[in-house]
Amino acid sequence: MSRSAHPAGPRHADVLPEGHYSAPPADLNRLDEKVWSRTVTRNEDGVLTVGGLTATALAEEFGTPAYFLDEADFRARCRAWAEAFGEEADVFYAGKAFLSRAVVRWLKEEGLNLDVCSGGELTTALEAGMPPERIAFHGNNKSAYEIERAVESGVGRIVLDSFQEIARVAHAAQSLGRRQKVQIRVTVGVEAHTHEFIATAHEDQKFGIALAGGQAAEAVRRALKLDGLELIGIHSHIGSQIFDTSGFEVAAHRVVGLLKEVRDEHGVELPEIDLGGGLGIAYTSDDDPREPHEIAKALRDIVTRECEAAGLRTPRISVEPGRAIVGPTAFTLYEVGTVKPLAGLRTYVSVDGGMSDNIRTALYDAEYSVALVSRTSDAEPVLSRVVGKHCESGDIVVKDAFLPADVAPGDLIAVPATGAYCRSMASNYNHALRPPVVAVRDGEARVIVRRETEEDLLRLDVG
Ligand SMILES: Cc1ncc(COP(=O)(O)O)c(C=O)c1O
Repeated sequence: MSRSAHPAGPRHADVLPEGHYSAPPADLNRLDEKVWSRTVTRNEDGVLTVGGLTATALAEEFGTPAYFLDEADFRARCRAWAEAFGEEADVFYAGKAFLSRAVVRWLKEEGLNLDVCSGGELTTALEAGMPPERIAFHGNNKSAYEIERAVESGVGRIVLDSFQEIARVAHAAQSLGRRQKVQIRVTVGVEAHTHEFIATAHEDQKFGIALAGGQAAEAVRRALKLDGLELIGIHSHIGSQIFDTSGFEVAAHRVVGLLKEVRDEHGVELPEIDLGGGLGIAYTSDDDPREPHEIAKALRDIVTRECEAAGLRTPRISVEPGRAIVGPTAFTLYEVGTVKPLAGLRTYVSVDGGMSDNIRTALYDAEYSVALVSRTSDAEPVLSRVVGKHCESGDIVVKDAFLPADVAPGDLIAVPATGAYCRSMASNYNHALRPPVVAVRDGEARVIVRRETEEDLLRLDVG
């Protein structure tokens, strides 16, 4: 990413502070299609529209803050992933990114499978009619109840994360008179090029069983012996917000190495390999994600090449994109409250939400873009920080971005690419009411997750 501490172009002070920001864009009113969902544009009055509806009308009807999800974009992304991977591979949408009953129905209609990682996600999936055989169940510490529930409901696969779990799932399956399809999640010793807290395939972490030291081979040995389990493959997930496939290349090489060991020791060729999720999206104009068909081709080529070299039949591949499907499809709409210009530093623009609806900036130092969307402006760009209303100085939504100098209380601003890990990680900090998710499509808007109310808060407060 090209970042500059002292960008050229118009600015509100002679010296700009150190920070991670690009030069101000040539046209602050332009909505870069890289970071906004497919149907977003500005109308002739300069107001952002999505699915044919204006941000001002949406704010009027649904209030702010709120997430607006572009259903046509979501469906198009599902189709693009399904088509890119084709008949001989499986795409599992990672529900942790964002899950609701409507999302489950869309996935079902668009031919995707679903990865869940808790009893709550499983219930949502089943409730909304996802066929259980299209569900994969994940998690590093599944409870006995979750395991039993997953086996009983007939999920297509359980991804085993530890030695204890091999025994627990086998026991649950046998007690229920079932043979459960499982994969073993391995850590391949790859650390994806991303933020430390979201890199998940290096060995010093809670997920999976290490290939190193023969642990994964031992896990396979145990799983193959247990009657309640049908071992269908090996799973690896190397991290998040990854832009190039080199990490997957190393992961595939090592996973295929294990498949070869298994074939040599047990005479069994495991039929599947899951390469997890983690594909990156554009949060800012500096990000350049790859298209699903490019990713699919790269992953297929890598696995085929590795298997040919190892003398193995190419296994069926599956992937688990979450962010790459839902991330770009939604934006968060806020109303501007307090505006605090600090000469020589930046302008703090406070909005009516914050870390309770988007924790990623505080948690991962994530970067976002922002735009004034209730009107256009010809005012000069000023370095701005979009902050929330919580009692925490780290309550930052967009750390460094340029907004027009005349942004004022009552304006609407929107942060794009908030479809993934925002509503799903939202909290009630300061007793904030979690915002609604509104699906917009062809001129119609529909609440798919309603705004919390104070009654919702008090209902849980039974003291
Ligand atoms: C096992 C597994 N699969 C898939 C995903 C989805 O990742 P992303 O949303 O970055 O594609 C995750 C995210 O943590 C994961 O842990």
